[in-house]
Amino acid sequence: MSSVFMNKIAIATRSSNRSRVFGQKARTIMSFTLNTGAKIPAIGFGTFQDPDAQEDAVCQALQKGLRLIDTARVYDVEKQVGRGVKKTGVKREDIFIATKLWCNDYHPETVSRALEDSLSDLDTPYVDLLLMHYPCTFASGADRFPRDASGKMIHGKTDYVDTWRALERLVGEGRVRAIGVSNFSKGEVQRLLDETSVVSHRKIPAVHQMEVHPYLQQQTFSDWHRRLGIHIIQFSPLGNMNDFYRQTGWSKEISHMMRVIDQPVLKSIGEKYGKSPVQVVLAWGVNHGRSVIPKSVVDWQIDENVAADFELEREDMEIISELDAKARCVYRDIQGAVCLLM
Ligand SMILES: NC(=O)c1ccc[n+]([C@@H]2O[C@H](COP(=O)([O-])OP(=O)(O)OC[C@H]3O[C@@H](n4cnc5c(N)ncnc54)[C@H](OP(=O)(O)O)[C@@H]3O)[C@@H](O)[C@H]2O)c1
Repeated sequence: MSSVFMNKIAIATRSSNRSRVFGQKARTIMSFTLNTGAKIPAIGFGTFQDPDAQEDAVCQALQKGLRLIDTARVYDVEKQVGRGVKKTGVKREDIFIATKLWCNDYHPETVSRALEDSLSDLDTPYVDLLLMHYPCTFASGADRFPRDASGKMIHGKTDYVDTWRALERLVGEGRVRAIGVSNFSKGEVQRLLDETSVVSHRKIPAVHQMEVHPYLQQQTFSDWHRRLGIHIIQFSPLGNMNDFYRQTGWSKEISHMMRVIDQPVLKSIGEKYGKSPVQVVLAWGVNHGRSVIPKSVVDWQIDENVAADFELEREDMEIISELDAKARCVYRDIQGAVCLLM
C-alpha cells in the first residue's frame, strides 16, 4: 500500500460521501495538507487554452466535484473562471483557486496591482494560491511579451527573490492564502530558501507547480520537495497529450514518442482496477502525494479525471516508474515558453 493512502486519515478528506451540487451527485476528492495548514485537493482542473469554453468547463468541473481550479494571468481566462465559479453556486470557501503572476508584473511596485487585476477578473476577494509563473522577469508595462527590435525578450531588472518578498507581504494582507513557484530549478528554489527571511508560513514556498508525468518523473526532485514540505502540483499530468506542445515546441527526440496514455502497460494496470489509462496516470501522481491538474473541456473526460484518486498497488507504481524517459514537453526556459504562448 502506498504511503499516501496509508496516511490518508491524517492527510486526506477522502470519503464516499457525495454531496449534491445543482441536483447532480458530486464526488468528494481526497486532499493533501499544505505547509500552511490549508487543504489542497489531489485532483484539480487546468484552464490553459480554449478560453471560450472555460466558463462552462469550470462550471462542469465544479459540479462534478473538482474543487481545485488552476489558472494564470497570462492564460487570459480569469474572467471565464470567475463566471464559471459563480454559475455553479458552490461556496467560495469550498473552492481552492490558484493563479499565477506573469513575468512583466514581477516588480515589487506592480505586484499588488497585478494581484488586484486577477482578483477583479476572478471576482473573488482572495486566491488560495499565487504562484510566480517562471523564475524570470520581463520589463514592466502593459506588454506581457516585451521584445526589442530584433525580437529578443526585454528582461526586467527585478530579481525574483525581490518579487518573492513582495508576494510575502500579500499573504500578510489576506488577499492571498499561500504563495509558491512554478518552473523553478532546484538551485532557484534553494536561493529563495537561502535569501529570504520569512518565506510563507514555514519559511518555504507552499507549492511548486512543475511538469511531472510518467515520461518526466523527476523522482529525486520530488523527494527533495517532500523533505522540505513543499507540495507539488503536476502540470501537464497526462504527459504529451496536449497537441499544442507537439505542434509548437517539441524536439525531434521526443515528438515521435507515443502518447503516454497509449502505453499498453497502463491499459493492463487499468484493467485490474476497472480504470482507464488516463485515470492510472493521474492516480500515479496522487499516489506519490502530488496534486494533478488535467485540463479538459469535454464532459466525459472530466468525469473520468474526477474519478482518479484511487490507490495503486506498489508493484503497479513500480511498473509505471519504468516509463520515465526524462522527456519534457513544456519548455522550462522562458524563451521557449514565450514561443509557446505567443
Ligand atoms: N505552470 C505552468 O507553466 C504550466 C504549464 C502547462 C500547463 N499548466 C497547467 O496545467 C494544466 C494542464 O496542462 P496541459 O493542458 O498542458 O496538459 P494535460 O492536462 O496533461 O493534457 C490536456 C489534454 O488532454 C486531454 N484530456 C484531458 N482529459 C482527458 C481524458 N480523460 N481523456 C482523453 N483526453 C483528455 C485534453 O483534451 P480536451 O482539451 O479536448 O478536453 C487536452 O488536449 C493547464 O491547463 C494549466 O492550468 C501550467
